[in-house]
Amino acid sequence: MMGRLSGKVALVTGGAQGIGAAIARKFREHDAVVVIGDIQREKGSALAESIGGHFVELDVTQPESWTNAIEGIVADHGGIDVLVNNAGDGTGGPIESTPVEAHQKVVDLNLNGVWLGIRAAVPTLAARGGGSIVNISSIDGLAGVSHLSSYVATKFAVTGITKSLALELGDRGIRVNSVHPGMVDCTHERGMHPMAMARIQKAVERQPIKRMAKVEEIANAVLFFASDESSYCTGSELLVDGGHLAGPYRDAMS
Ligand SMILES: NC(=O)c1ccc[n+]([C@@H]2O[C@H](COP(=O)([O-])OP(=O)(O)OC[C@H]3O[C@@H](n4cnc5c(N)ncnc54)[C@H](O)[C@@H]3O)[C@@H](O)[C@H]2O)c1
Repeated sequence: MMGRLSGKVALVTGGAQGIGAAIARKFREHDAVVVIGDIQREKGSALAESIGGHFVELDVTQPESWTNAIEGIVADHGGIDVLVNNAGDGTGGPIESTPVEAHQKVVDLNLNGVWLGIRAAVPTLAARGGGSIVNISSIDGLAGVSHLSSYVATKFAVTGITKSLALELGDRGIRVNSVHPGMVDCTHERGMHPMAMARIQKAVERQPIKRMAKVEEIANAVLFFASDESSYCTGSELLVDGGHLAGPYRDAMS
């Protein structure tokens, strides 16, 4: 049976671990040629080798790093059909004590990284007759969170970039959509402060689905947008959040 991404070349940023690694694995299961782009060479190469994919060293915050990575992929594989902008991170804290540099770092990675990536990839996507760009935003790209203003700002920006570029690139057959994970269980890879863990636990207990997401559950949503099954979707956002943003979830009867 042919995989759902058969014949497609996909670049997954931040694919060395966490959600990105699950996306890379899922894409390989569906027969895509997968290139993991990450700053973690050792980890990214090892994963690429284990799944039958490829690795390219890529710092998404650097325009020239994007140019080199895309040129390499075009030379090796003929072009790119799917770009997943997944690399992202963020720290929290009160705004007045957050160092400006920490804020700028988050903006550079989560916002500029996505914008630069799309800018660099459009020529090859267009040359292939179109393609799919999937941006990983968050529930925090649709609702505010206190003590997380830098991260939230950048994830709202990803929602905006997605919609603006869906309009701008539609004529060239390029679709742009965003996936919004809720609380995802990748704590075994990243570690997590016990206080943050306790907050997440409290939050998931209020959800209709009272657990964190498995990384595969996020990858499934990305697979849909990457594949031709989503051929009529562009500028759209898909929540994968266990119902977190469905509402306050209070029982009207109690
Ligand atoms: N984990 C969650 O609960 C959650 C929830 C909502 C949204 N998200 C989003 O999902 C995405 C992935 O999150 P994760 O939890 O898997 O993160 P993670 O920290 O486990 O992995 C991020 C990957 O990005 C790479 N990376 C970091 N800086 C980079 C750079 N400059 N260039 C290229 N690669 C770089 C890292 O090396 C790492 O492999 C992020 O955009 C995050 O904001 C995560």
